[in-house]
Amino acid sequence: MKIIVTKDNIEGGTKAFEIIKNGMSNGAKVLGLATGSSPISLYSDMCNSDLDFSEMTSINLDEYYGISPENPQSYHYFMQKHLFDQKPFKKSYIPNGLAKNIDEEVENYNQIIQENPIDIQILGIGHNGHIAFNEPGTPFGSLTHKVTLAESTIKANSRFFNNEKEVPRQAICMGIRSIMQGKKIVLLAYGASKQDALKALVEGPVIEKVPASILQDHPDVTIICDQIAAKKINPKYFTI
Ligand code: GLP
Repeated sequence: MKIIVTKDNIEGGTKAFEIIKNGMSNGAKVLGLATGSSPISLYSDMCNSDLDFSEMTSINLDEYYGISPENPQSYHYFMQKHLFDQKPFKKSYIPNGLAKNIDEEVENYNQIIQENPIDIQILGIGHNGHIAFNEPGTPFGSLTHKVTLAESTIKANSRFFNNEKEVPRQAICMGIRSIMQGKKIVLLAYGASKQDALKALVEGPVIEKVPASILQDHPDVTIICDQIAAKKINPKYFTI
């Protein structure tokens, strides 16, 4: 596991962008994409670059269940706004938050992931150690599934909504096993609220109570975090 500590999220975005750029020049064709505030500086670098994504495929980690793609709080909307409007991909997949038949949607999404093996997976991390919406206790062997959000996640994500009541309670989410199948994983984390989750991810036991801890078992993970987020990690783990 590589840990790159940066001054801030802007420098972090630049480092992540370099990884994507190198990956693409080495043949990467499928990007696994994340939402949340952490990847925004990366997406901004991608938008401002001369890279062409029109032959690339993207697969997003998750979507709230029960809100439409036009809803400004949906992850569809987020991706359009921060990346796809400026840099369209050949094909972009995001779970359908309005799917009537959840089992069918889940099956369909697993099929998409199998048919398009992810070359580079971008991840954020929740305060409670979740990756995507895989909350503490999610089996490491999970594939795409419908999840019930943890109270702490609802609270953390309420900052994007008018109030906590508006935050959807459920989501459709790529499972931990699928995330681990990504050939290269880049996890972004900034700010003091990520200190405990990052420490547990890097130094703690690999346990389902801390979903991100499974990344210790992946052969190619880069964590990009700012100095504040990295504060509780023993510096002996740092790469740069
Ligand atoms: C949400 C997303 C996660 C993301 C997390 C952290 O719960 N489903 O994919 O990693 O938020 O978000 P942020 O980067 O805004 O801290």
